[in-house]
Amino acid sequence: MLKLLIISLFVCSVYGYFTLPGQCPENVQLQEEFRLADFYNKWYQAYHYSSDGSNQNNCSVLELQTRPTGIYLNQSRVDRGLFHRYSIGKLDIPTSIEDAARLDVTFRFDDAPRRLMNRKYPFYVLATNYNYYATVYTCEYSQLINKHFIYVWILSRNEVLNDVSKELATRSLSRIGVDPKKLVKDDRSRCSPKYFEDKQAEPLTFRYPVIIR
Ligand SMILES: *[C@@H]1O[C@H](CO)[C@@H](O)[C@H](O)[C@H]1NC(C)=O
Ligand SMILES: *[C@@H]1O[C@H](CO)[C@@H](O)[C@H](O)[C@H]1NC(C)=O
Repeated sequence: MLKLLIISLFVCSVYGYFTLPGQCPENVQLQEEFRLADFYNKWYQAYHYSSDGSNQNNCSVLELQTRPTGIYLNQSRVDRGLFHRYSIGKLDIPTSIEDAARLDVTFRFDDAPRRLMNRKYPFYVLATNYNYYATVYTCEYSQLINKHFIYVWILSRNEVLNDVSKELATRSLSRIGVDPKKLVKDDRSRCSPKYFEDKQAEPLTFRYPVIIR
């Protein structure tokens, strides 16, 4: 009973995140011959797009890390202008070369009900030249309301993305129907927040659709 209550509270709270009609874009062409090894090291989030219009963090940095148990994605950022936070997810590496850019990342939520504990999200690389820019997106579909959510990362090797790289990075957005004008530039002017406590927290860039059976 309690479990049901928790799940229904959860459903209500995620409901509003899914605003785009129908399913996630299909047959999207991703980066060809994607090389994960060249994707390592620091990426700054230069711009982002969140289809629900939320804008909760800036100063985001993404970085892949190899550990004995696998490859992990560390998303660090300043939440709500106040808190330094990071989220660690485990990367699933596609087995076939054609699907190399079709990554997935799984986050663990220790406090969630058991069936919601491990949440896997797509983390698809639309385009990258490894040295300057990368365009990555995630899409989650909610069966319950037949709507989806998209988050796009425009990543840059340098804190500032030059105009040519920005143009190259945003060109691929048409493949998922995202208007580049809707990108939000990240503010890196105050990246030393009031509470610099290097603490792990839930990622704010993915939305979990609860499946009702
Ligand atoms: C994740 O990255 C941030 C920023 O580089 C760092 O402060 C933090 O310690 C990292 N977390 C882990 C577990 O490596
Ligand atoms: C960072 O993001 C928050 C939104 O959560 C915003 O209030 C703040 O003005 C942004 N910019 C800086 C420099 O903190």
